[in-house]
Amino acid sequence: MTKEQKKERYDRIFQQLETLFKKTADPIARMSTAAAVLHHKFSYYFWTGFYLLKHGELIVAAYQGPVACLVLERNKGVCWAGIKEKKTIIVPDVHKFPGHLSCDDRSRSEIVVPLFYGNEVMGIMDIDSKSFNSFDEIDQAGLEKIVKLIFKEET
Ligand code: SME
Repeated sequence: MTKEQKKERYDRIFQQLETLFKKTADPIARMSTAAAVLHHKFSYYFWTGFYLLKHGELIVAAYQGPVACLVLERNKGVCWAGIKEKKTIIVPDVHKFPGHLSCDDRSRSEIVVPLFYGNEVMGIMDIDSKSFNSFDEIDQAGLEKIVKLIFKEET
C-alpha cells in the first residue's frame, strides 16, 4: 500500500465512522465500532483497542484482536507514556521501548493516541502490529482525527 493509498483509506474510514456515529453519542458504542472498522481495514493491525482511565488505573475497554492485559501496570509502558505526555507515540520496535508492557509476545510495533474530552485525557487508543515499523505519520494523522469523533456530541 502506498502512502497515498493509506491516506485515502483513513479518509474513507473517517467518513464511514462519522456516518455510523450519528446513531449514538455513546462512547462505548463508538469505540467498539471504531475498533471493529479499523481492525478489519488494515492487514497490519494485530490488536486494535482502547484503555480507559478509571480511578487512576488504565483498564482495557473495547478492542479487537487477541486477549490483552485487563489492567496496565501503573506508570509503565507505551500507553501510560501517551497518557502522561498527552501525545501520540509511535514505537517502531517495542523491544527497544523501556518498560514496554507486553500483552502478547507477537507484537513488534505500536502506536498510541490519547483520547481527550475537552482538555482532559480520558484514555488511549492503542494499536499493535506483528511487524516492526508499521506505523508512520499517516497513521498518526488518520487516527488522531478518528479519536476526536469518540466524544463529539454530533458528527
Ligand atoms: N504495549 C502496551 C500495553 C497494551 S497492549 O499492547 C494491548 C503498553 O506498553 O502500554
